[in-house]
Amino acid sequence: VPGHASALVLAGFRDVPDFPEPGVVFKDITPLLADPVAFGAVTAVLADLAAATGADAVAGIEARGFMLAAPAAERAGAGFWPVRKAGKLPPPVLRRDYDLEYGSASLELAASAVRPGARVLVVDDVLATGGTARAACELLEEGGAEVVGLVVLLELAFLSGRARLGDRPVVALHVQD
Ligand code: PRP
Repeated sequence: VPGHASALVLAGFRDVPDFPEPGVVFKDITPLLADPVAFGAVTAVLADLAAATGADAVAGIEARGFMLAAPAAERAGAGFWPVRKAGKLPPPVLRRDYDLEYGSASLELAASAVRPGARVLVVDDVLATGGTARAACELLEEGGAEVVGLVVLLELAFLSGRARLGDRPVVALHVQD
């Protein structure tokens, strides 16, 4: 997505070297969230994509994906489905283990949240190695939903995360090579 949204996303991220581990550059979304113009513009773009894909629901990946997906879902007239880090939800849950750029983790989805046949747009702040996004998509598909696409604010193209998403459509508001 070239132009206004891309520039706002770029300005809204703060690079934090060597966090949470040496050698990792953390992408901090806090400035974007705190800027009402940038946050509103990004929310509007996400909501437009939800509407354009006919999404019944927007799924956000904990934690930063929640902050983006929930307002977009509400604005688009869609439901919000939280994909959570392990251990936060009561059973029954669907679960996927995955590798991160720094370590490993698990994602869970409330079995009662996912509606078979629903069209769902997945939203997160950053696409890095793609492990998180793929795990989220697989959870939603295991629950019977149709993933109509993944939208991220920032894609770190040098980590090739897009390749792990198969043929699922991926939109990045800003791409960093
Ligand atoms: C970050 C980011 C994405 C994920 C991308 O989440 O918000 O969800 O990493 O990495 P990947 O493409 O290599 O899987 P993090 O696990 O730091 O969680 P947070 O949102 O709770 O800070």
